[in-house]
Amino acid sequence: MKIFLDTANLDELRKGASWGIIDGVTTNPSLIAKEGVPLQDQVRRICDIVDGDISAEVVSTDAAGMMREAYELAKIHKNIVVKVPLIRDGIQTCAKLSKEGIRFNVTLCFSAGQALLAAKAGAYIVSPFVGRLDDIAMDGMNLIKEICTIYKNYGYKTQVLAASLRSPLHVSQAAQAGAHIGTLPFKVLDMLFNHPLTDKGLDQFLKDYAKAFQEAPAGR
Ligand code: E4P
Repeated sequence: MKIFLDTANLDELRKGASWGIIDGVTTNPSLIAKEGVPLQDQVRRICDIVDGDISAEVVSTDAAGMMREAYELAKIHKNIVVKVPLIRDGIQTCAKLSKEGIRFNVTLCFSAGQALLAAKAGAYIVSPFVGRLDDIAMDGMNLIKEICTIYKNYGYKTQVLAASLRSPLHVSQAAQAGAHIGTLPFKVLDMLFNHPLTDKGLDQFLKDYAKAFQEAPAGR
């Protein structure tokens, strides 16, 4: 599974990128707003930090506006994937401009039927939101499994991006369900490193080594 960072924060992106395990970035209008920098400026800076697919979302809700924004965003960098919401005009925009070579991430997907529409429209990525379904007492991870099965049944090339992942458990469940990509807030990526037995084991290794070689009396 590819790992994307779900943030528009440049410090988080620099740190994640320095670990050498980040395949791409997803942003949304809320994440961009948090940084207080206009969308296109912030996306340009992100493209300088991470060499991978960078999703940048339109803010229009009508097809004409989305198409205009899609052309502008796609021009910023070859790695840009234009994000459109899974509404009628978003699907129409994706279907039309995918044929011209623009890559789309169809976002705010909450059902397998919606994901089928994204694939039919030629989306490069579909983003089902796991955590937000869990929040309303539905099984978010089951949606990932359903979409992966449908896409496999019919050979759709659209990649399933598990979004709204809130914990390390979500990440491993998404990978087991067959998601092609998981997008993680920085906090969740950081938590993935942690295991108490790793810390305990490393502590013991270093103590044993120090005892054998650094505490030995001189001349031995
Ligand atoms: C994905 O592209 C979205 O930006 C994101 O995963 C939403 O996550 P949230 O539900 O935690 O806001």
